[in-house]
Amino acid sequence: MERTSRDWLFIRRQNGGLDGSLRGRAFVVAALWAAVAAGRRTRSWRYTVKWMHTSHSVDPKEMQKFQMWAHKWWDEEGVYSALHTMNNIRVPFIRDTLINRVGDHDTGSPLAGMTLLDVGCGGGLLSEPLGRLGAVVTGIDPLEDNIKTAELHKSFDPALDKLVQYKTNTLEEIVAGSAETFTAVVASEVVEHVGDVESFIKCCYQVLKPGGSLFITTLNKTMMSYALGIVMAERIMGIVPAGTHDWEKFISPEELERLLESNGFVMETLNGMLYNPLSGSWHWMENTSLNYAIHAVKIVPPKESSSCDPASEQRQKQAEASTSNAL
Ligand SMILES: C[S@@+](CC[C@H](N)C(=O)[O-])C[C@H]1O[C@@H](n2cnc3c(N)ncnc32)[C@H](O)[C@@H]1O
Repeated sequence: MERTSRDWLFIRRQNGGLDGSLRGRAFVVAALWAAVAAGRRTRSWRYTVKWMHTSHSVDPKEMQKFQMWAHKWWDEEGVYSALHTMNNIRVPFIRDTLINRVGDHDTGSPLAGMTLLDVGCGGGLLSEPLGRLGAVVTGIDPLEDNIKTAELHKSFDPALDKLVQYKTNTLEEIVAGSAETFTAVVASEVVEHVGDVESFIKCCYQVLKPGGSLFITTLNKTMMSYALGIVMAERIMGIVPAGTHDWEKFISPEELERLLESNGFVMETLNGMLYNPLSGSWHWMENTSLNYAIHAVKIVPPKESSSCDPASEQRQKQAEASTSNAL
């Protein structure tokens, strides 16, 4: 018997809208989607739980934002375009500061012999040019997908093979195996995303060689940075996606200097930075009310405990208290 389209419609309605084979296929597709979504949720939960236990500097909410853009790092016109152009001023700042501290250098490979840690390296936008200057660079980021993007992009330039390596790690995770290892630590546009800035700085101190350099670029916590950095850049001009920054996490250079100096650093340079959204370019300026860059040097052992894990400090204090009670 030949069936008309009306018959097929009737049969589908009888079967709850879909005939048997279609229902079967729809079920398989729905089950697959559910499995993929559950896998993603499990993975993100797994990392959230891991970060909660291993790192005080990682804020899981911030990680969720970066997860969304993990494949966009090398799109020069995309969400990270301002970081691409920031290289025009931050790379020479790091290079020249390090050269001045060493004195003698190879002009073709000015950072040769130096070991750099790029904390929160994202897709490697800064690690790569620093590697091309001859430094041995370790880029770390808590997000696995950022590191995958960084690895993939690095593979296009064999010259970077021996100079740049990436690891999916928090700073706390590498401290124990990297004490006094690096000539310089770079944390560019990272501090405004971390959970506990002091703990982060303590970790930087521990992995630096004595006399080593810490470079930080970040945003000041001013009305101007709220108006231009959040309202204008995110909500009006869309230079970065809305929600990229949380103004509450911004930090003034005075507060950062206080934290640095109470944790064994001396601040040597503070420069204001200005982004021109029309030309997409960055310039140095004296005013630090928006973006700024700091160079600090590891100089003396911090007065208090140098642990970068507040939980372990707490445990130590409890242990000390119970020991004295026992005596
Ligand atoms: C705005 S991006 C900057 C990326 C890179 N430094 C650059 O300038 O091209 C911030 C990066 O910091 C990472 N991040 C956030 N919190 C961090 C933490 N506590 N420790 C290390 N990296 C962190 C994020 O995953 C993200 O890749």
